[in-house]
Amino acid sequence: MRSDLHFLKGPAGASACEGQDGDCIRCGAICVERFPVLKRLVNGHRLVYLDSAATAQKPEGVIAAQARYYRRHNANVHRGMHTLASEATDLYETCRRRTARFLGVTRPEQVIMTNGATGALNLAAFGLRHTLNPGDEILLTEMEHHANLVPWIKLARQEGLLLRHIPVTDDGRLDLGALPEMLTDRTRIVSLTHASNVLGTINPVAEIAAAAHKRGAVVIVDAAQSVGHMPVDFDALGVDLLAFSAHKVYGPMGLGFLVGTPEILSRLEPVEFGGEMIETVTLDDATWADVPHRFEAGTPNVAAAAAFPAALDLIEEATLERIRTHEIQLTGYALETLSAFDELTIYGPDDPSQRGGLVSFHDAKIHPHDLAQLLDARGVAVRAGHHCAQPLHRRLGVVATARASFGLYNSHDDIDAMADAIRYAREVFA
Ligand SMILES: Cc1ncc(COP(=O)(O)O)c(C=O)c1O
Repeated sequence: MRSDLHFLKGPAGASACEGQDGDCIRCGAICVERFPVLKRLVNGHRLVYLDSAATAQKPEGVIAAQARYYRRHNANVHRGMHTLASEATDLYETCRRRTARFLGVTRPEQVIMTNGATGALNLAAFGLRHTLNPGDEILLTEMEHHANLVPWIKLARQEGLLLRHIPVTDDGRLDLGALPEMLTDRTRIVSLTHASNVLGTINPVAEIAAAAHKRGAVVIVDAAQSVGHMPVDFDALGVDLLAFSAHKVYGPMGLGFLVGTPEILSRLEPVEFGGEMIETVTLDDATWADVPHRFEAGTPNVAAAAAFPAALDLIEEATLERIRTHEIQLTGYALETLSAFDELTIYGPDDPSQRGGLVSFHDAKIHPHDLAQLLDARGVAVRAGHHCAQPLHRRLGVVATARASFGLYNSHDDIDAMADAIRYAREVFA
């Protein structure tokens, strides 16, 4: 098994990773061997994991850090005077500091820990509820994940808001020509994805944020498919709030982040109430703790927070620049490989440098669910369905697609394995 990322740093002509349970002994680069699950067989074949957009595999460091937390430190945070409680609190707050640094955020208090991108986007939407009035407009896009659609649908119903959506062009980009007409004086919030989880399209968030701010709108970015795959600098994006999940960034499940400017966080209202988020409580009144603790009611996922820095260590070691280059190369190779199949439609921009590391496609000969099952029979894990983006699939004119998505452990061999498995599936269906 080999990782192409190895070759970005490794000697020319290297053909196989020579690391043993660790790094490549030739070049010291990150090795797929660090991801234990990638060593397993699926249906008698080596696992070819092409579903990182759903969740990325975890390196040994993350698994070990989570186990170490439960073995050595397990305690609740922020409310104990004993050693374990203070160690747990340190680990939890270290996660906040590391995540802030990773995104170029000046103050750790700007980072709120949630249970995932979905939790973060719900907090953003319902935390801004008190700023909205009937008839106000929320501008979204046609390419959003349900996590950035459904909270707004619920809020619009409750508050009498108008939802508008920037259309998607036939080549899978946002139709920015429509933006001046769609951004109005009634637009209070613009919330959009940084990178589409179906089309791969990377949206010009900074440009859209600047236009939205001129109209006085709050800008939220769903960065679930960009953080960890490309350099993401919170300040450079110029948004008010940014959401993502740790588990898509090689980290543990059950942890996500909402990052905000100090100004917006001071206006955001908590949406969950209880322990940890208060300053004082009487029988019939309560005041809130400072930001960010007022948004973190109840016991948080401390074990996940204790493990996430190990994922950031790995990314920083590989460097985001190399990861991005690697994913562009893999995406380009996947586009080229898949376009050699007849009657197979590929979605999203042609240029891999304008996409994140994933490719969705539709085989006219085989339903995506059948295709994914037959690929699985060959050890190749791809996702099939609407990928939590039903409106986008309606726009594309299909009910479902198959999606191959990449992480730093994937190689050109993995894409060749997927192509072989598609040929096999076509034989089965011939
Ligand atoms: C673009 C996008 N936004 C939001 C989410 C939701 O992430 P989570 O399920 O981790 O909350 C996903 C997950 O697939 C996604 O791809």
